[in-house]
Amino acid sequence: MNDSLRASWGSKFGLIMAAAGSAVGLGNLWRFPFVAAENGGGVFLFLYLLITLILGFPLLLIETALGKKAQSDPVGAMKRIHPSFGFIGGIGVLAGTVIVPYYCVIGGWILSYITKSFSYSSFDSFEQNFTSFISSPIPPLIFFVLFLLITATVVYMGIQNGIERFCKATMPALFILLLVLMGRALTLENALDGVKYFFYPDFSKMTLQTLLTATGQAFFSLSVGMGVYITYGSYVKTEIDIVKTMSPVPVFDTTVSLLTGLTIFPAVFAFGVSMNSGPGLVFITLPKIFASLPFGTFFALVFFILLLFSALTSSISLMEVVVTFLCDQMKMTRHKSVIIFSTFSLIVGTFVSLSFGEFNGFKIGGKILFDQMDYLASNILLPLGALLTCIAVGWFMGVEKLELFKNKTTLTLFKVSIKYLSPIAIMIILLHAIGVI
Ligand code: ALA
Repeated sequence: MNDSLRASWGSKFGLIMAAAGSAVGLGNLWRFPFVAAENGGGVFLFLYLLITLILGFPLLLIETALGKKAQSDPVGAMKRIHPSFGFIGGIGVLAGTVIVPYYCVIGGWILSYITKSFSYSSFDSFEQNFTSFISSPIPPLIFFVLFLLITATVVYMGIQNGIERFCKATMPALFILLLVLMGRALTLENALDGVKYFFYPDFSKMTLQTLLTATGQAFFSLSVGMGVYITYGSYVKTEIDIVKTMSPVPVFDTTVSLLTGLTIFPAVFAFGVSMNSGPGLVFITLPKIFASLPFGTFFALVFFILLLFSALTSSISLMEVVVTFLCDQMKMTRHKSVIIFSTFSLIVGTFVSLSFGEFNGFKIGGKILFDQMDYLASNILLPLGALLTCIAVGWFMGVEKLELFKNKTTLTLFKVSIKYLSPIAIMIILLHAIGVI
């Protein structure tokens, strides 16, 4: 794309909100609680926070700076480091391609909850309702298609008109409502047992598998390794300080995860919901909290609408990665790219949606298609993309070329992290993921 014709963010605030909108999403509000529950609670939280700080945040910075410097999609940005490195950016694009279809399936579940908020007088017996809903063939498919259509429409409209507007309006509201819900959950009976489980790190439960899952979760939640920040960075034109501008993003993202944990875990203990509810955890516990609140239906409606927007701002960012790739590398128009990728997502997402019911007998390595795609993206593609990005920037380009830090000591520490610490840590985690150690 001709640089002078390239779209750009309307303001610095717009970029922050769009980046936070990408980070805050189903990863925090839906994925984090059940993955933490399945992986030992407190010990998982500890590892997740540690990895966000020492691996996630530096990666977020180098990805954004790379995009800004190259003014190109992830593949183009990596090719600038070395012509044969395009495939590294391709891993991020592939991650986005894998995540969008199943992300939109979950988005569809949220949409269906919104319609239920209108028609149900209470949220009782949600456990049963939820399971029968997601395993039925047609209704989840209809909502999935609707969610995909909304995502595609916003991406079709472009950077400033769609993404920026959406994020500015919805992020603060989501935060406030989460605080209200947390207040209610913390005052439930046995709430403290949930808080204890969430915070108490039982280090005997710390295994390489927990570390792998925590890394996948931290990367997924921050949106690193997916090409999002390279893509969003490529729409930055003005001289902005990347470190200062992007620092609030991980803080916002982590805070939302913490608030979600402090809402879900007390509720899980108070209502005796199984810790192993998996992807259904939030969809089962939250309605139970709502049912126990005065004006619960109203709160449910507002919450699921905000959840919907947070999911949309993330799915939009992921679709934008693939669309920018198609525009920059394949020289397609934005409109054509959106139509092509949406058709692909429609086909794959249909299979994903059916994997909870009709096709649940079809398993690869004991996992249904939905779980397989989530595992492939979070535990393989994101760490692999991140590892190769660190190597490309640390060993071939040179961290100093990104002009992130002026202070010599900070730059040296950052260099050590990108050249040595991060690659070694991610390598160990990946070797474990593919069963070598
Ligand atoms: N970072 C996005 C999320 O957490 C993908 O949902």
